[in-house]
Amino acid sequence: MSKLELHTMLAESTHDERERQLFVTQLRGHLASRVVPGNYAVYERRIEPSFRRRHGRSPQHFNDVRAAMEQDGYYQFWSAMQRCSQELMWESVIDPVERAASTLNRKAKSAKPKTKGSLKLDPSLVVPRYHTAVDIHLQPGGYHSEFIEDDVSAGVIYDMALNIYSNGSMGPRNEYLGELLVGFFCEQYPDRQPRKILDMGCAIGNSTLPWAKAFPRSRVEAIDVAAPQLRYAHARAEAWDIPVHFSQQNAECTHFEDSSFDLVISHIMLHETSKSALNHILRECHRILRPGGLMLHLEVPRGRTVLEQFLYNWESWNNNETFGQFMTEARLADLACKAGFSSEAVECLDYSVRREKEQQLYSADSYWKILLAQK
Ligand SMILES: C[S@@+](CC[C@H](N)C(=O)[O-])C[C@H]1O[C@@H](n2cnc3c(N)ncnc32)[C@H](O)[C@@H]1O
Repeated sequence: MSKLELHTMLAESTHDERERQLFVTQLRGHLASRVVPGNYAVYERRIEPSFRRRHGRSPQHFNDVRAAMEQDGYYQFWSAMQRCSQELMWESVIDPVERAASTLNRKAKSAKPKTKGSLKLDPSLVVPRYHTAVDIHLQPGGYHSEFIEDDVSAGVIYDMALNIYSNGSMGPRNEYLGELLVGFFCEQYPDRQPRKILDMGCAIGNSTLPWAKAFPRSRVEAIDVAAPQLRYAHARAEAWDIPVHFSQQNAECTHFEDSSFDLVISHIMLHETSKSALNHILRECHRILRPGGLMLHLEVPRGRTVLEQFLYNWESWNNNETFGQFMTEARLADLACKAGFSSEAVECLDYSVRREKEQQLYSADSYWKILLAQK
């Protein structure tokens, strides 16, 4: 955990817990850098030639690849190790958070506000079924579960685990994706100074804070359905003196007025929703943007070859990211047009990044997906 910047809302780990966290981090790094590439070799040497012999053609869909690869011993070994590492990751952070929970909850509740930021929770909000039906990416209780009153635990757990998941590559404040999208925005629109920004699916606010830092004169709103994430996000932002207005809202149907934002963004949220929710969210973005306002969604890549699409969908089939399979083939630009954006003002692009510290999970070619639309 040495790669995470310390602040007052983190849970302290014992020596043995830190070693366990380090072990999982290194195991995941080893799997990503040394074991994953073997899947490519296995596919080229065994799977693809044997498929071609049997069918007289190469696999044309990731499900063709799935049927063959899932029978292969090497892939089975990686898959089992990957699943174990994910479970170990949560286990390695839950103990320290559980021990510190009542102190952290109290701290979050009683902290004197340092900035003009705020927190507004809505106990009547119904957490969507796509979050209550399964423990998303195997986090016990998902983002939203509360085990004691005023609980922040799920937020602390997410923060500490994200650092392990990414082998520290998300940065000391897990802020990398926010910085990436801020960088893209400033590159594309150097003259824009959005007055009101909304970050949807903000979780712990890790990607929100770079926006608030880059645009200190803007009002930054951040919403999520999960109360424990928001409580922690607020306390964490206050600990660093960064004002953000956090509120518990569903991005499918927010309380914001029509045409009230200059910029609506999200970072890796869409693929954790559902087919109907995705349409609702895009329509909601269109409603709350002012004319000329921009929508920017950063998404995880879904692979450019059938093999990569299969490997990315490991998360869908084995890590409770059940919506990922739909996202592999979703035409995001078409969906944005269906939501009201005009086709000339919509773009879906692969944003390639070559940053040394970024861990390459499945492919040698690292890129992110960006859905961009102007109202
Ligand atoms: C993978 S996390 C992303 C967290 C953060 N944006 C980041 O960059 O790491 C997805 C977040 O989206 C939230 N979320 C999912 N569906 C939502 C919805 N309909 N409305 C608001 N938040 C939602 C989840 O609760 C979760 O905190």
